[in-house]
Amino acid sequence: MPHESLLTTARTIALRAGELARLRRSEGVEVAASKSSPVDVVTEADRETEALIRGLLADERPGDGFFGEESGAERGSTGLTWIVDPIDGTVNFLYGIPHYAVSIAVVEGEPDPQTWTALAGCVVNPASGEVYTATAGGGAYLGEAPIRVADAVPLSQALVATGFAYDSTTRGEQGRLVAALLPLVRDIRRLGTASLDLCFVASGRTNAYFERTLSPWDHAAGALIAREAGATVKGLGDAQPSRDLILAGHPDVAAALEGALAQLAR
Ligand code: IPD
Ligand code: CA
Repeated sequence: MPHESLLTTARTIALRAGELARLRRSEGVEVAASKSSPVDVVTEADRETEALIRGLLADERPGDGFFGEESGAERGSTGLTWIVDPIDGTVNFLYGIPHYAVSIAVVEGEPDPQTWTALAGCVVNPASGEVYTATAGGGAYLGEAPIRVADAVPLSQALVATGFAYDSTTRGEQGRLVAALLPLVRDIRRLGTASLDLCFVASGRTNAYFERTLSPWDHAAGALIAREAGATVKGLGDAQPSRDLILAGHPDVAAALEGALAQLAR
């Protein structure tokens, strides 16, 4: 399979990082600092887990670039960059909700989701033990089992996941949009971990997912996994996913959701 050795690296390191995060969670977790807003927090475990991942990647792939949520970016010489969220779903992690993830992807080209090509990705939920993986052209897996998006359903039958920004003004807008969307769909889920939201689309646990204000590390691995499982994963209009929008689902459901969101935003 193409990119299999990159995937092995991503998976092995994500599993080790997940063990560390789970250990730290079992010892108890406290907020270390807040970031973009008082509710956007980081724990010592986020920093320690990213440092572990960065160190292991530097040992194994010394020429590659790195772009992580907690410790920033460093360009490499190989044209490959590792995009890392050490703990996605930090608020779930803080509260002991067993739905958080280590997300690792490796991309080719500039470390910019508008232009990069994702080659391999792994999302691990250390609390459930679930491991989602994909390689470009090689399909998507939950553990050893291939996964596919759920069959198309009308929007009125679609279970749609979403998420909210840390900024309170943006949240107000997002809340109003979701309130208007709710009567049009089966139901809404706010599960709290964007990478797993994309993996849930990939494995048919939800029909679609959309969110604004995500960062590249939140969606790098999950977007590849969802695409390899047959989902459309897109941003606004013809753009790739960005802070403006990420939308994912079976192609027919994604189109219907995109149309509904555009109408509601008018
Ligand atoms: C957050 C989660 C959440 C999403 C936020 C993200 P973090 O990531 O993925 O589900 O709604 O937009 O920032 O801060 O826990 O790594
Ligand atoms: Ca994070």
